[in-house]
Amino acid sequence: MAIGKSEFARRRRRLMAEMEPGSIAIIPAARLHVRNRDTEYRFRQDSDFYYISGFDEPDAVAVLMPDRKHGEFILFCQERDPELELWTGIREGPEGACANYGADDAFPIDDIDDILPGLLEGRERVYYAMGRDPDFDQHLMQWVNTIRKKTRNGGQPPGEFLELNYLLHEHRLLKSAAEIRQMQTAADISVRAHRRAMEFCRPGQFEYQLEAEIMHEFMASGCRHAAYESIVGSGANACILHYTSNQNKMQAGDLVLIDAGCEHQYYAADITRTFPVSGTFSKPQRQLYELVLASQLAAIDQVQPGRHWNEPHEACVRVLTEGLLELGLLKGRLTTQLKKEGYKRFFMHRTGHWLGMDVHDVGDYRVDDEWRILEIGMVLTVEPGLYIPPDDTSVAKKWRGIGIRIEDDVAITKTGPKVLSAALPKEAEALEQLMQAGQ
Ligand code: GLY
Ligand code: MN
Ligand code: MN
Repeated sequence: MAIGKSEFARRRRRLMAEMEPGSIAIIPAARLHVRNRDTEYRFRQDSDFYYISGFDEPDAVAVLMPDRKHGEFILFCQERDPELELWTGIREGPEGACANYGADDAFPIDDIDDILPGLLEGRERVYYAMGRDPDFDQHLMQWVNTIRKKTRNGGQPPGEFLELNYLLHEHRLLKSAAEIRQMQTAADISVRAHRRAMEFCRPGQFEYQLEAEIMHEFMASGCRHAAYESIVGSGANACILHYTSNQNKMQAGDLVLIDAGCEHQYYAADITRTFPVSGTFSKPQRQLYELVLASQLAAIDQVQPGRHWNEPHEACVRVLTEGLLELGLLKGRLTTQLKKEGYKRFFMHRTGHWLGMDVHDVGDYRVDDEWRILEIGMVLTVEPGLYIPPDDTSVAKKWRGIGIRIEDDVAITKTGPKVLSAALPKEAEALEQLMQAGQ
C-alpha cells in the first residue's frame, strides 16, 4: 500500500508548525528533461515536492502558507486538456489537486505569475531551496520584484529567504512506519532481483545480461525505475566504483559485483553482492571476501540508537585493517596503519550513507561539528569493500584485480539494527550453494 493521504497531510502540518510566523514555503516540482530531440526521460518527481504533496506530475508548484484563512496548502498544476491528454495521459488538473491531494486551493500553472505575487505579498519570510533550479530562482525573484515595484502603493515584499531544506530534510531523515514498510518492499523486490541474477549467471555471459535479469524483476514487480544505474562489474571492473557500462564478457574464475536496487513508490533499495561467476571462490577471493563480510557484520553491530554516525565506519575500518595486515596487504603495526588510514588504498569510500526517497538520501551527517547520533527511524546502508587495483605491483599477484563490496540496507529500530535486505545470502558458502544450484 502506498503512503496514505493522511500521512502527506501530517507532513505538511509538521512542516508548517516549524515554520516561522508570517512565512510561506514554495516548492517546485521536477521538470521533464529532453533525452533526444523531442523525446523525454521518464518523469520522476522531485523527492521534496513528492514528500509533501504525493503529486507526481511535472509543471507544478506547491505553496504552504501557515494560518492562511482560505487554506494553507495551495497547488499550481497543469490544467486538464482533453486534446493534450489524448497524447500524454490524464492530468489531475486543479480540481483533482483539491479532490485527491488535499490541496485547499489549486490554480492552473499558467496563472502563477498573476497569483503568486499576491500570495507572497505581506509574508515576511520565504522558505525555499535556492540554487537547485536556476530558472525557478529567477521566477521567484521576478515575483518578489513585482511586489517591490508596488511598495509605494503599500506592497510589502518578503524581507527574508530561509533554507527550506534545513526543516524538510530533517523530517525526511526520520522515516515513519509507513515509509519503512515501503523501503522493506523495495528491499524485498531487490533481493529477488539479485537472486535471479545469481541463479542465471554463467561464464561467457555478458554483464548486461545480469542487469537484464535485475531489471526484469524490478519491472515485473511494478518498479519502472531502478533507484540508480545498476552496476554489474566482473573481474577487475569491480574495482571501478561506479562502473555502469556493464559491457564485458564474464570469465570463469572471476568474481562479479552487482550493486542494484529498485525504487518502489518513491523509496529506494541499495544492495550489493559479490559472487563467483563459476560458482566457487578461489582461495584469495574467499580470504578477501570473508574479511569484507566480517567488517560489514562489525559495522552493522554498531548501527544502534545512541551511537554516532561514524561508529559503524570505525568498526569496519578496524576489522579491515587487522585483516589486511594479517593477509600481508598492509605492513606494520595496527595502530600506525589505523592512524595513517592505510586501508584507504583498498577501501576508498565510506561505509554507508542515508537511504530513503533518494538513494543518497538527505540529512546531515554532522550536527554542531559532531558526528550525528543515530536515532530510531533512520535508514542507512552498510557497504564496506576492498578493491585491489589490477596494476598494483606492490601487492602479491594473487590479490590483484579483485573487487568486493557487500551492501545492505539497515533501519534503526528500538531493538537495534534491522537489516531490510537480510533475505539475500551473503555468507560465502550460501552464495556458492545458490550459484551451484542454478548451474
Ligand atoms: N549504489 C550507490 C551506492 O552504493 O552508494
Ligand atoms: Mn550501492
Ligand atoms: Mn550505497
